[in-house]
Amino acid sequence: MSRILAVGIATLDIINRVSCYPGEDDEIRALSQRRSRGGNATNTLVALGQLGHSTAWAGVLPREADSELVLADLARHKVDISAVQRLASGKLPTSYVTLSAATGSRTIIHYRDLPEYGFSAFDRLELAHFDWVHFEGRNLPELRMMLEKTRRAGVPCSLEVEKPRQGIEELFHLPDVLLFSRAWVLHHRAEAPEMFLRSRQKSGLSFVTWGKEGAWCGNAAGEILHAPAPSVEVVDSLGAGDVFNAGVIDGLLRRLPLQEVLHHAVDLASAKCAREGLGI
Ligand code: FRU
Repeated sequence: MSRILAVGIATLDIINRVSCYPGEDDEIRALSQRRSRGGNATNTLVALGQLGHSTAWAGVLPREADSELVLADLARHKVDISAVQRLASGKLPTSYVTLSAATGSRTIIHYRDLPEYGFSAFDRLELAHFDWVHFEGRNLPELRMMLEKTRRAGVPCSLEVEKPRQGIEELFHLPDVLLFSRAWVLHHRAEAPEMFLRSRQKSGLSFVTWGKEGAWCGNAAGEILHAPAPSVEVVDSLGAGDVFNAGVIDGLLRRLPLQEVLHHAVDLASAKCAREGLGI
């Protein structure tokens, strides 16, 4: 069992399952609705907890009614919240999610009005207590300082690069592992994951997820590996990328060979797509 800290967000997800995605100005009925805790970093921690690791979250949580659902869920999954910054004002970031039963796709409208977790809070953490630190790619000036501190402390770390953010490339030399989304790769005009990884050759360990086609990985030696996704009926893809990231971190901490790390992460993400929510 390893001790893993993740820096990022928790959200309230209001998830409407619909038979197919509506058009603009349509009015449709949802097949079902649920409210649950979401957010990439906390989703990854919950998945890591299910894999037997001890987990801690560093993020911001406002003192308001919706945060109770986050606290209850993190307590249920034994995520340590002693590094969490509680704020008297602000709103828990909220995602309005439409899950299409026809395709399994998830469309997210995200609202946030909450300061980001900053370096001054992170700087108070004793990093020697952790075997791995995972970061979301947000709040870049502060993130740079957090990554630099993690490097100085000699703790391995990963960075999720999910959404295009101006200047994030300048941080790529700092983490040990980069976890790219398909959206990020496509935004950067690479049509295929191999092509993207080849363009990054010899610049460290990078993973790219590619939906139903599985995932790819490139290492510093210039090797490119692929793991196809097993064919599953996609019921709920919300959080699949976060579970993939947990699989990579778990596999690397267990020192599995790289091809096995990739297969393991793809299998976990596919199994998540085949069931509703993040529970096992
Ligand atoms: C899934 C997710 C949701 C959350 C949204 C935030 O990856 O973490 O749980 O609402 O993304 O971007």
